Amino acid sequence: MCGIVGYVGPRDCTDVLVSALKKLEYRGYDSAGIAVFEDGKIAVAKTKGRLVDLEAKMQKQGKPQGHAGIGHTRWATHGEPSDVNSHPHSGRRVTIVHNGIIENYKQLKQFLIDNERTEFLSDTDTEVVAQLLDFYYDGNPIRCIRRVLHELRGSFALGIVFADRPETVYAVRCESPLIVAQGQGEVFIASDVPAVIKYTKDYYLLEHGEIAVLKNGGVTFCSLHGRMLEKELLTADWDEDSAEKGGYPHYMLKEIHEQPTAVKTTITPRIENGLPNLSECGITPETLRAFQNIFIVACGTAMHAGMVGKYVIEKLARVSVTVDIASEFRYRNPLIGTDDLVIIISQSGETADSKAVLNLVKGTGAKTLAIVNVKGSSIAREADMVIYTHAGPEIAVASTKAYMVQLSVMYLLAFEMAFAKGKIDEDTCRRLTAQIVSMPQVIEKTIGAVVDMCQYVSTKLISTDSLLYIGRGLDYALSMEGSLKLKEISYIHSESYAAGELKHGTISLITEGMPVIAVATQNSLLEKTVSNIKEVKARGAMTIVICDEEADIDSEATDYLIRIPKISEMLMPMVATVPMQLLAYYTSVNKGNDVDKPRNLAKSVTVE
Ligand code: F6R
Repeated sequence: MCGIVGYVGPRDCTDVLVSALKKLEYRGYDSAGIAVFEDGKIAVAKTKGRLVDLEAKMQKQGKPQGHAGIGHTRWATHGEPSDVNSHPHSGRRVTIVHNGIIENYKQLKQFLIDNERTEFLSDTDTEVVAQLLDFYYDGNPIRCIRRVLHELRGSFALGIVFADRPETVYAVRCESPLIVAQGQGEVFIASDVPAVIKYTKDYYLLEHGEIAVLKNGGVTFCSLHGRMLEKELLTADWDEDSAEKGGYPHYMLKEIHEQPTAVKTTITPRIENGLPNLSECGITPETLRAFQNIFIVACGTAMHAGMVGKYVIEKLARVSVTVDIASEFRYRNPLIGTDDLVIIISQSGETADSKAVLNLVKGTGAKTLAIVNVKGSSIAREADMVIYTHAGPEIAVASTKAYMVQLSVMYLLAFEMAFAKGKIDEDTCRRLTAQIVSMPQVIEKTIGAVVDMCQYVSTKLISTDSLLYIGRGLDYALSMEGSLKLKEISYIHSESYAAGELKHGTISLITEGMPVIAVATQNSLLEKTVSNIKEVKARGAMTIVICDEEADIDSEATDYLIRIPKISEMLMPMVATVPMQLLAYYTSVNKGNDVDKPRNLAKSVTVE
């Protein structure tokens, strides 16, 4: 998604903007640009391509020199990636950068054309906003911004500079996230904290409809209605090192290795006297007892964590769980009752479709629980209850540690709910809880045990166009995530299939040498899964099997075996995830892909 930054202070503004934008690269982008006050005028530099292309361009043309300005990385929505469509965009006296989408930009453009404003250079909705601000500008920036905000529909954030207000940056948030960070005599805006953590850990979270004015190294805030606001200064509880690669070649590999710590940090505060205790998140045994049905709603990887959650909650707590893709749930008119619980899982807490589900559920009487990684994010703030996962910043676009901690929370919730509903006794709950407490060591051991084999097997995948992931039960839920991880960073077409369903159509796809990755960690289903592996093997497939170290697998059925530590069947997803992540990682590396920033993808999907 697009990234916004801004700066007012004594440093070289261009350097600050570019360094901050580099920290937002993980969000995905196709062009970049900055606007800086230089000798009282706004100097703009922008280009299609990466930040290195912008730097090269500025080296040739001259770098804007100044101490206040705005910057942007664009992820194209309206208009192809090109120099002219890159941000910033300008009207005669106003220059802006923009994240999000203006839904009614066509009507607004027509309004401007009808009023003889016809100087549009780009295909973007952003330029329409710049022109509209210019149209209404009467020398009072706040009045002008408020006027325009009343006309815009959509979710967006803006960084704005007015040519006749030098050394001042204005910022607005309407849904899309934006923070204002306060340093010593300097102030920043950014779409996300990692952009500016190098300069300061202190930040304000702009709320929907709030306007910030950055001037003289400080900031003031006002509401959409023009009322001055006092805001709480927050402090990030992690530092620049957590957002750096720390010696790993890619963020993704670093984040895979961070999983044991992430799980430990997430579960430890939620366990008391050997039993799960989620009361600090607003969840008590009484509340858990009351729920009749559960809906888990999320997107992508987070939805896959929900799939594992469904199996575990239904098995242990005997409550019906429906898992939905957020963008589908919104439009299917779901039957939600007042005694139901809707769980939204989201790493970023800003995913537009997941956020919209919260609004939909409001008014049904059902309770909402957010499982979110980013502190203070929209979904976390709007849900009735929130369980924060403590994975730390996840920079690689492909989610790994966030998924792992989402799984750990799903287990804790299932254990506590099953106990609260009297479906398991205290001893069982203690035993299960002890197992999850041991997971950080088991995950660590698994990484060491499988890394070489995954690296080797990945070399067998690089020349394929298409492959299948198969599994049964929890292994099927898990294979969905394995398949997504592989396809998104290796660009190999991959589908996950319930192993027992293959014969009903998909097996016709199997041709000589086609890779089939079978996840076979569920001993109770092992025989049946092995039969399915044999079926594809008999039709020429190259089979790769992920199973525990004791599983009895017929060697004739498998080309490559990836053995993982054996633990209780129900917790196997937290172990089996590791080789799936590493297979995806090394396949992408071996193909020479941009592992951390795969093409066409963005880290935080704030548009629908
Ligand atoms: C894939 C991936 C995405 C996200 C999805 C939801 O590796 O990261 O599928 O899981 O876009 O994002 P969040 O969790 O931020 O709501």
